[in-house]
Amino acid sequence: MGDVTKSFLYAWCGKNKSTPSYEVRNSGGKNRPRFLCEVTVPGFSYVGVGNSTNKKDAQTNAARDFLSFLVREGKLSQSEVPIELPSQAVPNAYNSGPSELPAGGPVAPHIKLASSEQNYPIRNDYVPLNQESTPDYVKRIEEQRRTEEAEDLDINSGIHGNWTLDTAKSRLHQFLQMNKLNPEYKYSQVGPDHNRSFLCEMSFYVKQLGRNIFAREHGSNKQMASKSCALSLVRQLYHLQVIEGYSGVTKKKETDKLEPYDVSVDPALISEIEDVLMELEIHPVSVPEGESEEPIPLTIEKNVEVDERSPHTGVVPWSPPQYNWNPWTSCNIDEGPLATMTLPDISAGLKKEYEERASNDSKFQKMLSARAELPVYQFKGEILEAIQNNSVVIIRGATGCGKTTQVPQYILDYYLESECGADSCIVVTQPRRISAVSVAERIADERSEALGNTTGYSVRFESCLPRPYGSILFCTVGVLLRKLESGLRGVSHVIVDEIHERDVNTDFILVVLRDMVRAFPQMRVVLMSATIDTTMFCEYFGDCNH
Ligand SMILES: Nc1ncnc2c1ncn2[C@@H]1O[C@H](COP(=O)(O)OP(=O)(O)OP(=O)(O)O)[C@@H](O)[C@H]1O
Ligand SMILES: [Mg+2]
Repeated sequence: MGDVTKSFLYAWCGKNKSTPSYEVRNSGGKNRPRFLCEVTVPGFSYVGVGNSTNKKDAQTNAARDFLSFLVREGKLSQSEVPIELPSQAVPNAYNSGPSELPAGGPVAPHIKLASSEQNYPIRNDYVPLNQESTPDYVKRIEEQRRTEEAEDLDINSGIHGNWTLDTAKSRLHQFLQMNKLNPEYKYSQVGPDHNRSFLCEMSFYVKQLGRNIFAREHGSNKQMASKSCALSLVRQLYHLQVIEGYSGVTKKKETDKLEPYDVSVDPALISEIEDVLMELEIHPVSVPEGESEEPIPLTIEKNVEVDERSPHTGVVPWSPPQYNWNPWTSCNIDEGPLATMTLPDISAGLKKEYEERASNDSKFQKMLSARAELPVYQFKGEILEAIQNNSVVIIRGATGCGKTTQVPQYILDYYLESECGADSCIVVTQPRRISAVSVAERIADERSEALGNTTGYSVRFESCLPRPYGSILFCTVGVLLRKLESGLRGVSHVIVDEIHERDVNTDFILVVLRDMVRAFPQMRVVLMSATIDTTMFCEYFGDCNH
């Protein structure tokens, strides 16, 4: 790769009396280095990001991301910006010059998408180099989420075939042995020395599925990371119906075995707590004396004053879908046709595939007419128009009217039909893991496809990511919060579903998103809720449509 992009940025900055500064680090493991580069320019809060298997390409990718930002900000016109292909991605046939992008590409993305993913095992998600710049609130929520997820791990195992950290590894090894597979756990270290933790990843070919599966999980030590990685793989195999659910005795939760017992608390501490509660006007739930059969919820309705935020909170970086960028892995695309195809070329392929499916696939057609019976269908045009014209839209509808399953598809199909499919990457949050997985499965079924093509999901311990362009990712609120730490580059629409459930994480997402849409009005946020009063949300987001 030449240095056309970097030089261009350098020259542009020179004209504006500034210099771009690049920071690169190895974000991969020992065996498979991968470099992450961030570029910043004095006077701009945006951080350009790029990654690649070599430092030079990572820098070029970061410079390109920054230039795209300048184009979006109106500081540059697209035609001025040079087009430079990633060096290792350029197929020989196209190696004829930086501005001659392949017209249409040799392999339509829709055909290659499912299999291409297996050629690009997902690498480390982008983690910002400058950790201090991570908004404090995202960190705080993230910590809380981790604790909560660690606690509710066993509670949720039921939806994943009862496979748990304790049982998954031996089942995985049994599966690998039976299928004569010998993949290795690959570890990489993350974090500074004083707070070292590990990522563990594994990928192997599953002949029953005809494709690879992949997992990458995090742990405080290598053993925990590998256990989590094994659990993710086993749960994927379970959901993909390759292995059975766990049939042994499910470990009883520790709390089930615990008898209640008294604890003594310092009276001074009690009065201190009472003072704080009084000051905050919080009235704790009174618990009746004696034992009660029914559990008593101790949660209290107290809205957090959202405007009491630190004035130093940063805005999470955002960009629309971009050339050579997979938003679901936050990685540049190093190899294969998608690495070099322009968005219009990808869109043309996606449109063709969509039209072929609509005219030839009878299951798709049957599902399409069933979908047209849902109450939300009559508002399709209105919904699309509102989203087109407003950064934030609130959709309110009765239970079962089709919000969750239909709205993301309306947006996607509209883009696909308009030959702009590559410009739509939609993330939808669900309050619970089970709904993220089951809605993704349902949509794949409605579209007569396998999961991992148009639709995918990402929940802790399990991901089946969709294709990089023209796709919908269902995830839990926790997963989106984690993604926000590294920015939402390449995500065109963020849909927050079931906002009426009002948990602290969802509220936090809304705080972050409000700041983001103010900074990036091209971004689209859709809030969905059951039929409750949504005035409060509407006021919070200012003049949003609903
Ligand atoms: N897994 C499934 N199998 C069969 N039908 C389903 C499935 N999931 C959803 N549906 C159908 O699709 C319709 C729309 O469901 P959807 O979840 O989109 O509604 P919703 O408006 O989001 O409801 P809620 O307010 O309960 O979240 C449902 O009425 C149901 O009939
Ligand atoms: Mg719903």
